[in-house]
Amino acid sequence: MIKASDFGPDFLWGVATAAPQIEGAADLYGKGTSIWDSFTNRKGKIKNNHKLGVACDFYHRYQEDIALVKLLGFQIFRFSISWPRILPLGRGEVNQEGIRFYHHLINECLTQGITPYVTLYHWDLPQALEDEGGWTSFSINAAFNAFVSICALEYGDKVKNWIILNEPFGYTSLGYMLGIHAPGKTGLSNFFPAVLHTALAQAEGGKILRAEISQANIGTTYSCSEIIPYTQSENDLLAAKRVDSLMNRLFIEPALGLGFPTADWDLLEKFQIEYGTWRLNDRMKFDFDFIGLQNYFPLTVKFNAFIPVIQAWEVKAKSRKKPHTAMGWEINANSFYNIVKQFAAYPNVKNIMITENGAAYHDKLIEGSVVDAERIEYFELYLAALLKAKNEGINISGYMAWTLMDNFEWAEGFNARFGLVHTDFKTLKRTIKYSGYWWQEFLRN
Ligand code: BGC
Repeated sequence: MIKASDFGPDFLWGVATAAPQIEGAADLYGKGTSIWDSFTNRKGKIKNNHKLGVACDFYHRYQEDIALVKLLGFQIFRFSISWPRILPLGRGEVNQEGIRFYHHLINECLTQGITPYVTLYHWDLPQALEDEGGWTSFSINAAFNAFVSICALEYGDKVKNWIILNEPFGYTSLGYMLGIHAPGKTGLSNFFPAVLHTALAQAEGGKILRAEISQANIGTTYSCSEIIPYTQSENDLLAAKRVDSLMNRLFIEPALGLGFPTADWDLLEKFQIEYGTWRLNDRMKFDFDFIGLQNYFPLTVKFNAFIPVIQAWEVKAKSRKKPHTAMGWEINANSFYNIVKQFAAYPNVKNIMITENGAAYHDKLIEGSVVDAERIEYFELYLAALLKAKNEGINISGYMAWTLMDNFEWAEGFNARFGLVHTDFKTLKRTIKYSGYWWQEFLRN
């Protein structure tokens, strides 16, 4: 049986969350409207038309929730700062009540002996900035930099661990290409400028923190998925390379100073030429102290000429009769091991932290308990795969489980439950699941 101590005495253990998914108080205490507030008001965008209004009510219950983090035995609490709570219109006037809230939250973590890891952007862009084009507009960079400076100056003496962006590929693809996340935009003419401004933001944000905060430990996060060709046919192999360039390489390579990954896909080559991105390679570069990896599934892909642009198609876990979570995501711990190794192979990646990993299941609260044996098994498999990578000499310094408690799972609303703690969204009562107790036991040993 795997134990936390197998990872060594310095290994860091945490749980991750994000402001829009847990905070609630969505239109209270001076907070401005975010693109997710607007998106949830558009009919049919979110399952069951769930809204963000109260979410887990973390805004009012953060003390109790930090106590849960501690009770489960974690050292780190990862949360995000809501940009529109600090700057209701995205720039300009600062909302002092928002500033105070994060001071209280940080102080509470420190008082309870929990180390805060703060994400600066976890997808809740101020709507006022989206009205100017959001991530597609060049003006976003100055606005983001100003927001980063405010956070650094306010909190930098207490918070040393920072994450610039959460999953840039996630929000640029789902929000600006496929339209299934906020702000609901589609097409390459939105996607490419959003990619470029995002790649600039991650590096510029890092540089600001480096200049403003002494002894800062600065990272950013990337979603990652092993891309597995369905067959060894040349077409499938090339399709897998295109998907890999898009899903795994698009943002880390500019940060490492390599520019956008144009070699395996002529479309990215065109993007580079059309936007002259090579001229910005230096601006997109930043020497991160750690790279945050977030893994949920591998993708098996097949060439398909009818799929526009990418000409690749996912062969779902279900149709291949593979084990999968309630999201339909394949459970494959070996693919986690493989993708961690893929990222670790970049010569300039010094240190990797797993900043999210977890699974949704159809949890049921029965007589006060949630017996989520599948989630426990998931963590056992994934942690064993991580330990294998670590024991082979990869510099992995920590792991954060997604997530503390069931919360607002974006387009899935409150239906997809990823928490170690069950949330009753009517009463807001928290109940530790069996997996939460499993973690408590695991971290004791
Ligand atoms: C995001 C989280 C999300 C999780 C599960 C990640 O992409 O960072 O906000 O809840 O995956 O879908």
